[in-house]
Amino acid sequence: MSATDPSPAPLRTWGDALQWGTLSLAAATATPDLDAAVLLGHIVGASRALLLAYPERLITGERALAFAALVARRSRGEPVAYLTGHREFMGLDLLIDPRALIPRPETELLVELALEDARSRLEGGTPPVVADLGTGSGAIAVALVAHEPRLPRVYAADISTDALALAADNASRLGVADRVTLLHGDLLAPVPGPVDLLVANLPYVAPGDAEILPPDVRAYEPALALFGDEDGLGHLRRLFADLPAYLRPGASIYLEFGYDQRPALVALAQTRLPTAAIRVFADYAGWDRILVARLPDAPPTPRPDDNSASRRSTAN
Ligand SMILES: C[S@@+](CC[C@H](N)C(=O)[O-])C[C@H]1O[C@@H](n2cnc3c(N)ncnc32)[C@H](O)[C@@H]1O
Repeated sequence: MSATDPSPAPLRTWGDALQWGTLSLAAATATPDLDAAVLLGHIVGASRALLLAYPERLITGERALAFAALVARRSRGEPVAYLTGHREFMGLDLLIDPRALIPRPETELLVELALEDARSRLEGGTPPVVADLGTGSGAIAVALVAHEPRLPRVYAADISTDALALAADNASRLGVADRVTLLHGDLLAPVPGPVDLLVANLPYVAPGDAEILPPDVRAYEPALALFGDEDGLGHLRRLFADLPAYLRPGASIYLEFGYDQRPALVALAQTRLPTAAIRVFADYAGWDRILVARLPDAPPTPRPDDNSASRRSTAN
């Protein structure tokens, strides 16, 4: 059996298949052993741990052929998640296909930060109105409601009807369809009113940077999900122009951005939301990737008999 042998005939066991798959993928991916295990696990219905624990288990000829076909597609660059149709995100098994971006680990950080914020609002007695713009597979919106059962609903908007159909499948399959309201349209346009929490992983790659994307991303993931207008920040500029009218007092926004876009995005946020407190968070690799801006709470409404404000100014 050789790494380039197109015939999987010698693949009699899980161990044979893993070894052949890993060798076959060595030149095509940085993680050939992991990719081979995920693809074989998908075909035989076993976890990676089981595959490694029982290398002597037999594989049928039909399954060996199916596995070899997936290895061939992976070695041509097709992403693993599109081959298996699944990707784990925030511990949830999401359906994934080329209608939407494959959710990334850094987006889990965005969800964790937004969840923490949603929980503190819920504990303060006010269920927040939440919107996820550019929902794609629905990863963020579905994870928010799945991990926080007290959250009544999340608006999940996208300009792609294909992506929204996938998001609908994910919301139904994970039993949260009644709390994910799918909306079709450009940025904030379909959102019915002001929100307390806005999360968005909008496209932010500059079209001129297409060449520096990994080839499998460029060739297989939807361009509509990858490329922002202008220098990549065009979608976020348009979003910020409309944001003030869509944010309630005390609202927070959570935005994912590209590794070199921090200065431009912070400047944009400071200009458009001058009263907001702005923070930036790094991803697990240490790159700044998430901007959080929080508006001040509304000043307390003075009661008709409350003259404390005039008392204070007199004292000064
Ligand atoms: C980077 S993907 C993010 C997908 C998903 N939220 C995630 O994190 O995995 C960006 C998404 O924004 C959508 N999109 C692109 N332009 C848009 C626009 N003008 N208005 C709303 N959504 C848009 C794309 O269709 C795509 O689903």
